[in-house]
Amino acid sequence: MKDVTKLKRRHKMKFNISNCELVSFFLTLVFCFFISTSSDEFLDCLSQTISSDNIVFTPNDTSYSPLLQSTIQNLRFNTTTTPKPLAIITPLSYSHVQSTVICGVKSRLNIRTRSGGHDYEGLSYTSFDHAPFIILDLNQLRSVSVDSQAKTAWVESGATLGELYYWVSQKSNLLGFPAGECTSVGVGGHISGGGYGMMARKYGLSADNVIDALLVDVKGRILDRDSMGEDLFWAIRGGGGASFGVVLSWKINLVYVPPIVTVSSVSKSLDEDATRLVYKWQQIAHNITEDLFINLIITPVQATDQENSSMQVTINSLFLGTVEEFMKTVSDGFPELGLQQKDCTEMSWIESVVYYSIYFKGQNIETLIERRPQPKSYFKVKSDYVKNAIPEEALGEIFKWCLKENVMLAMEPHGGKMSEIDETATPYPHREGNLYIIQYIIVWDDVGFISTQKNVASIRRIYEKMAPYVSKNPREAYVNFRDLDIGTNCYACSTCYVQAMKWGTRYFKGNFKKLAMVKGVVDPKNFFRNEQSIPPLVLSQSY
Ligand SMILES: Cc1cc2nc3c(=O)[nH]c(=O)nc-3n(C[C@H](O)[C@H](O)[C@H](O)COP(=O)(O)OP(=O)(O)OC[C@H]3O[C@@H](n4cnc5c(N)ncnc54)[C@H](O)[C@@H]3O)c2cc1C
Ligand SMILES: *[C@@H]1O[C@H](CO)[C@@H](O)[C@H](O)[C@H]1NC(C)=O
Ligand SMILES: *[C@@H]1O[C@H](CO)[C@@H](O)[C@H](O)[C@H]1NC(C)=O
Ligand SMILES: *[C@@H]1O[C@H](CO)[C@@H](O)[C@H](O)[C@H]1NC(C)=O
Ligand SMILES: *[C@@H]1O[C@H](CO)[C@@H](O)[C@H](O)[C@H]1NC(C)=O
Repeated sequence: MKDVTKLKRRHKMKFNISNCELVSFFLTLVFCFFISTSSDEFLDCLSQTISSDNIVFTPNDTSYSPLLQSTIQNLRFNTTTTPKPLAIITPLSYSHVQSTVICGVKSRLNIRTRSGGHDYEGLSYTSFDHAPFIILDLNQLRSVSVDSQAKTAWVESGATLGELYYWVSQKSNLLGFPAGECTSVGVGGHISGGGYGMMARKYGLSADNVIDALLVDVKGRILDRDSMGEDLFWAIRGGGGASFGVVLSWKINLVYVPPIVTVSSVSKSLDEDATRLVYKWQQIAHNITEDLFINLIITPVQATDQENSSMQVTINSLFLGTVEEFMKTVSDGFPELGLQQKDCTEMSWIESVVYYSIYFKGQNIETLIERRPQPKSYFKVKSDYVKNAIPEEALGEIFKWCLKENVMLAMEPHGGKMSEIDETATPYPHREGNLYIIQYIIVWDDVGFISTQKNVASIRRIYEKMAPYVSKNPREAYVNFRDLDIGTNCYACSTCYVQAMKWGTRYFKGNFKKLAMVKGVVDPKNFFRNEQSIPPLVLSQSY
């Protein structure tokens, strides 16, 4: 148990202690007393139902570290001081998940469920709240079974988006699924937080296309849509899964994709009137045919001489149709784009997935199921929704700030199907009236406190300056683009829900209250919790 004590010491070292945290700090001291007992208790409990070979990994096992690091996507949380789990459990069957939850509850150990490990703030594999924890890593639960007749599939949470896309495409070249571009993202976190991608304007979010799910609840039961009830089924489709249980598997509706789609990716510098183009894009991209998705990636290109440094605008399009139809659509609807046929390529939908996946461009579609290690970096992301086009002059200023701070912008249009779905239909409330979502992204490649502080400060300055141009009251954010800057839970406070409204309403607007009420029913003691989980609102407490 020496390792455990050491871990605990590390946990305690690194906080700026605020008032509220002070209380929980003392609670932790009390809790720490029992810590070795609870870890032993947990492993004992687990050993009664799971033979630990290749399923339970403690820091003593040589595979503990490689396994822990395997899907850490943000290297900010791959340091020696990042709090580490007491154990990592990699279930091979649903009953292993049930046992882990039952034993976790019994020994009061916080569980972090990890599917693809892409959480921007690392919440699926670390913990900043001083409590000991284990990781339930679903990487072995990744089957995808497609019913091409019924146009549905069951996909397990540990599958990646790339695996899902691949197996669907193997069954039919006319079926696809609307979800994110980055193919290493896990299905579990992605769908439970919404899931936004290049077909969202045509078909909505991933969560909008879920028709059933299997979830292990706090009592260790496996529930499906029928047995969990419509409120809980609503909550896990965009409210973040981590607050409600462990989602094992999702039944999804597959969507029609044409046999030929067209892609086009062109870059322009600001000298080429790109600012004006971005200005026009704001007015057009959300309101053009739903078959066309155009996003913008605006990157600082730093030359050795400052004079030649500039922002570069990359315009990525996915059109669900042939190049001819595409050319006609843009020449009628967005002539300012100046696209020519030579800038466009026809391919199958699954090939377009590879084309737009970050690391696999130009490779064959089998790379989607190879699970190769891929480049990782240190990063921080923040997000905003834009409801009124930003004036051209202001865009020019914004690009100057971003160049100076080395911040990249990714802008993705809403509109189409996204606007047709009611704000309360799922927890994702950013529907009608949003032109697009912005991600501010800063990436760096050296470890170290100073570098982190510097880069995080840069992106925060940009975010502050953007306030006049983006949604207000609340300033909205997307939960899958997790940002702990907007607020975190404080466990020692008696008014958890009230405190959490500050950030909860920014992710979920009016849906936050319903999420907290569902939580109050299904997990009133707040077992499934993290820094930004939904706090329980128990009926008698509020209304
Ligand atoms: C490079 C990159 C590109 C991205 N691109 C997009 C994009 O195009 N569109 C988009 O919408 N998002 C995108 N995201 C964000 C991504 O959707 C979220 O980070 C998502 O939550 C990741 O899911 P995951 O399973 O990989 O993450 P994890 O880190 O494993 O989990 C994220 C959260 O969900 C919880 N969770 C995971 N699995 C389960 C489960 N089975 N049951 C219950 N709770 C669970 C975790 O505990 C954690 O709180 C991107 C992220 C990255 C890093
Ligand atoms: C780890 O190894 C030490 C020393 O070999 C042992 O005392 C301890 O019980 C082990 N811990 C676990 C969790 O297996
Ligand atoms: C994560 O940290 C470990 C231990 O410091 C290191 O060996 C490993 O290379 C790091 N991973 C990456 C991708 O940098
Ligand atoms: C969207 O486009 C249609 C024509 O295709 C136009 O009538 C309408 O005013 C536009 N709406 C917005 C919000 O720009
Ligand atoms: C900027 O780039 C141009 C063209 O590449 C080059 O000729 C010029 O010398 C550069 N400016 C400076 C200040 O180096």
